[in-house]
Amino acid sequence: MASRNDSIIRALVLLTVVGAAFAGKAAKKEEDKEAADPGGTFDITKLGASGNGKTDSTKAVTEAWASACGATGSSTILIPKGDYLVGALNFNGPCKGSVTIQLDGNLLASTDLSQFKSNWIEIMRVENLVISGKGTLDGQGAAVWGKNSCAKKYDCKILPNTLVLDFCDNAKVSGITLLNAKFFHMNIFMCKGVTVEDVTVSAPGDSPNTDGIHMGDSSDVTIKGTTIGVGDDCISIGPGTTKVNITDVTCGPGHGISIGSLGRYKDEKDVTDINVKDCTLKKTTNGVRIKSYEDAASVLTASKIHYENIQMDDVANPIIIDMKYCPNKICTSNGGSKVTVKDVTFKNITGSSSTPEAISLLCSDKIPCTGVTMADVKVEYKGTNNKTMAVCTNAKGTATGTLKELACL
Ligand SMILES: *[C@@H]1O[C@H](CO)[C@@H](O)[C@H](O)[C@H]1NC(C)=O
Ligand SMILES: *[C@@H]1O[C@H](CO)[C@@H](O)[C@H](O)[C@H]1NC(C)=O
Ligand SMILES: *[C@@H]1O[C@H](CO)[C@@H](O)[C@H](O)[C@H]1NC(C)=O
Repeated sequence: MASRNDSIIRALVLLTVVGAAFAGKAAKKEEDKEAADPGGTFDITKLGASGNGKTDSTKAVTEAWASACGATGSSTILIPKGDYLVGALNFNGPCKGSVTIQLDGNLLASTDLSQFKSNWIEIMRVENLVISGKGTLDGQGAAVWGKNSCAKKYDCKILPNTLVLDFCDNAKVSGITLLNAKFFHMNIFMCKGVTVEDVTVSAPGDSPNTDGIHMGDSSDVTIKGTTIGVGDDCISIGPGTTKVNITDVTCGPGHGISIGSLGRYKDEKDVTDINVKDCTLKKTTNGVRIKSYEDAASVLTASKIHYENIQMDDVANPIIIDMKYCPNKICTSNGGSKVTVKDVTFKNITGSSSTPEAISLLCSDKIPCTGVTMADVKVEYKGTNNKTMAVCTNAKGTATGTLKELACL
């Protein structure tokens, strides 16, 4: 679902980035210059923020960012316990030193959409950023989900994503909770080296486009020890993403852990080296999924994808490769997929399916899926009115130690 909006988000991001690129050049190598500003802690309450949940504290947080980002040493933006109402926060780098956002309290996003140009908290071109603490980024999405028309309209207005990292190398986000985003909870774009650890993401299962963590055009991304329950993909891995390790993630409700959608837009890059290990999916519509558009506009490959030790609990489509993905019927169905899916391993996938078809490998006749390996895949339909089944079309590979009825390769 989410993918249809990816390009719009990308376009928005790129617009902002063109400007930021110039700023970036000018500020490079500034860190060599020992300035008088050594950093330290910038407590937003000392800059006029009020933790009563009602007073707009945008100015204080923005000031804290400017001071922290402008300091040469290591700086901390402290958000103490309390509820701070804020509008759009644009944190632009490069910074002179390293910045930590210590979130002990909660930031509440304004529910007034006129306060946002695109995203809620957008952090751009900041290296070595740390966001930590036990606080919450509360998108207060319930107030605006009704204004999301993306299921009906192609050129729908994209609501603000909660936390966006653009061109942020070596970022670490840990401990925090992301709650009820208006749109995606986290969007990682053009970053190298991002770790998300011990994070909780939560929104109702029926909230629209509230993806947990989306990433695109990024590499070296680690997501571990994280619990995600949302209204769309728990994790979605978009085009141009390589070297991703996802471990110890619990997903549900939601649409599962997805690669894709791939091929919808021009100039998409390959997805490769994706490892998903020791994860649990609970009552999700999909388990592990690779989705690409049948009428793909790009030629790209998704390869070296490895799923291991995945527990499925009442999942509707536990294992699914869908090369004819087309939500809301916006594709021209010409069967000419240009997306190659190869070298995909499913190892030790166990648990229950809520539909008879526990496995669907729906590959295209023009470019079959190759190198698909199933080892010890034991997912059973939990109902009693039907048997467990697998459907493979144009999928080539091997199955070992897998339930007989699922070995359709
Ligand atoms: C992912 O895990 C593999 C195997 O454990 C490791 O070699 C690789 O460096 C990890 N990549 C990242 C981005 O953490
Ligand atoms: C298979 O995966 C489950 C988790 O889904 C894990 O508990 C179990 O130890 C794994 N088995 C092997 C042989 O690794
Ligand atoms: C069993 O499931 C398959 C696939 O979903 C469906 O086509 C078929 O009608 C089902 N059979 C019964 C008896 O419900």
